This record gives sequence, structure tokens and C-alpha cells, in this order.
Amino acid sequence: MKVGKLLFSEKEIETKVHALARQISHDYQGKELLCIGILKGAFMFFPDLVRRLNFSVTIDFIAASSYKGTESSGELSLHSLHQEKIENKHVLLIEDIIDTGESLKSILNILAKQNPASLEICCLLSKRIRRSVEIETKYIGFEIDDQFAVGYGLDWEGKFRNLPSICRAVAERGE
Ligand code: IMP
Ligand code: MG
Repeated sequence: MKVGKLLFSEKEIETKVHALARQISHDYQGKELLCIGILKGAFMFFPDLVRRLNFSVTIDFIAASSYKGTESSGELSLHSLHQEKIENKHVLLIEDIIDTGESLKSILNILAKQNPASLEICCLLSKRIRRSVEIETKYIGFEIDDQFAVGYGLDWEGKFRNLPSICRAVAERGE
């Protein structure tokens, strides 16, 4: 695979991240919020978002992976790095992209058992037409159709995460 057409420029991403941060700042004002970033995909989105929040939050991370190439392997491997107690806290999961929803569903199920005060999701990208499980997503940056996106944290087989913009990944001979 190689990098194809630009989907979202650095400027468009920045504007969207600011809008999300404004909305989250408004919704959680006066509450104790724990932001949990899902690695590795959220490694750029997470810091860009939390530094724009206008109140103090605590942070933690979870590492999860389910993809092989451009198809989900269906099996989620979760390496929990998270150490913060989430009981009675408002928790916001911060993720790069939601595709079938399977990964986030598994993570939600695990975290819900730890009795958070609330548990919501903030995803930069969403492929709604690919969803195979019902999942409520409170904050979504951009909706995209069924295509494979790379850059700004999103990878194809571990590559392209460091691109500053989001592009379509295409076969070597495609565009
Ligand atoms: P889901 O479980 O099918 O929702 O898959 C979600 C995970 O798959 C995301 O956290 C990403 O790591 C990965 N993923 C899904 N679609 C894409 C894509 O277009 N580009 C890069 N990674 C993707
Ligand atoms: Mg990923």
C-alpha cells in the first residue's frame, strides 16, 4: 500500500480537534474527567485534544490491536496500561477511528464493569456504514465511507502513522 488522495489536511484536523475540545470542555465543566487514549492510533489525536481542554483532567492509556493489513483480524488483543481507578469517575475513551465497532465494544464492556460514573467515546474518524455492533459514540470528528485511512496516528501494517494529515491508503498501483 502507498499513500493516496488527501482526505483531511492538517488545518482541517486542527479545526475539528478544537471544535471537539470546545464541546467536551463545555459538557464536562466542573466534573472530574479521566481521558483514556487508545494506543497506538490515538497517539497524535490524544495530546492535540487534551491540551485544548480548558480544565484539568487525568489521563491514562490502553493499548489495543485488531487489524492485520486492511481487514480486522476479529480478535482484539488488549494490553491494559491503565492504572487509574475509574470507579465513580467520568471516563472519556479517545480513539483514532471506529470501524466495525467491535474493538471499542470490547473495551467498553471491560471498563463498564469497573463502575465509572459515565463512559463515553470520542473518535476522530468513523466509518458508520461498516458498523457491525450498536455502539453509542458521543463525539465524532469526521464520518468517512468504506476506505482505508492512514496518517495522524492511523496506520497500515504499522506504517504512515507519522503523516501530519489523513490520506487514503491505496494499492501500490492505485491512486
Ligand atoms: P473496529 O474494531 O472494526 O471498529 O476497528 C477499529 C480499529 O481498527 C481502529 O482502532 C484502528 O486501529 C483500526 N482501523 C479501522 N479502520 C482503519 C483505517 O481506515 N485505517 C487505519 N486503521 C483502521
Ligand atoms: Mg490501529
